Amino acid sequence: MTDRFALLQILADGHFHSGEVLGDRLGVTRAAIWKQLRGLESLGLNIHAVRGRGYCLAQPIEFLQTEQIRGLLAPSVRECLPLLDVFHEIDSTNTYLKTRAAQGVASGAVCLAEWQRAGRGRQGRVWVSPFGCNLYLSLLWRFAAGPASLAGLSLAVGVALVQALRDCVDADFGLKWPNDLLWRGRKLGGILVEIAGESSGPSHAIIGMGLNIRMPDDAAGEIGQPWVDLYRISREQPSRNALAAAVLNRLVAAMQAFESQGLKAFLDAWRALDVTAGKAVQLHLATETVDGHAHGIDDDGALLIRVGNDLRRYASGEISLRMTS
Ligand code: BTN
Repeated sequence: MTDRFALLQILADGHFHSGEVLGDRLGVTRAAIWKQLRGLESLGLNIHAVRGRGYCLAQPIEFLQTEQIRGLLAPSVRECLPLLDVFHEIDSTNTYLKTRAAQGVASGAVCLAEWQRAGRGRQGRVWVSPFGCNLYLSLLWRFAAGPASLAGLSLAVGVALVQALRDCVDADFGLKWPNDLLWRGRKLGGILVEIAGESSGPSHAIIGMGLNIRMPDDAAGEIGQPWVDLYRISREQPSRNALAAAVLNRLVAAMQAFESQGLKAFLDAWRALDVTAGKAVQLHLATETVDGHAHGIDDDGALLIRVGNDLRRYASGEISLRMTS
């Protein structure tokens, strides 16, 4: 562990610690502590410094722990997850699993990180990933069939994510096609599914999800859209380890159901969570924008939009709600 993470382990309790005590515990000077504290701010953490009291994190940190997460998994799920790596820092948990997949790591490999230096969102966007406060999780799943059979997989993942959240927090979560996790129109989480393989199989999917649990104010300034976190929804901070386990429990069950039944097993649940059905929307495509009314999804997971008298079908794109209806 590098020094700044040793310092963070002490500050994680959210209490004040003087520079002198921190220096003594880590065997470095107060000046060195001060320098490390500056470095912590680059992780997206807010630190309070109060004369006479010392330093304190604006919010305590519950570190992610492999053994704790494993202990909270259903036994049948635990058996399906041969690798569960937790990193303090990483470029992107999806990128890490992409490399591991190419090295032949088994299906069910999981990667979690406290901080992503280069978290990736859909459409090439950045996923704001400050340290120790949200969930950044990726799962590798291998399929016998080719990539074409995985077209609706990200919708199934959205349903699994909502189920996992409902296992932990009572709130009205919803989904926006294809797979944005929303609460009252604000983005709570996102899903990035990256698929590769031979056209006739086998194939694999790297399923990444980011879930806002308690976003520090400074990092929040970098998010370019209305957002929310679980803390702001419930005024409580659910355990990150428990949430990680709940997500994995639901996600593995979803992968197994998708393997045996495909998207069919998720259609009713997805439609019940659809927040745009019947609403005036704009679909943003690479070369055009389509204005119409969302009409849910077809059985393959494609978005249906009514434009005048036409019912049009779209397999990709981004939708936003229109202000007028
Ligand atoms: C979106 O744009 O809505 C998708 C966001 C996906 C973010 C997650 S965080 C864990 C995983 N690693 C990444 O780099 N991205 C995904």
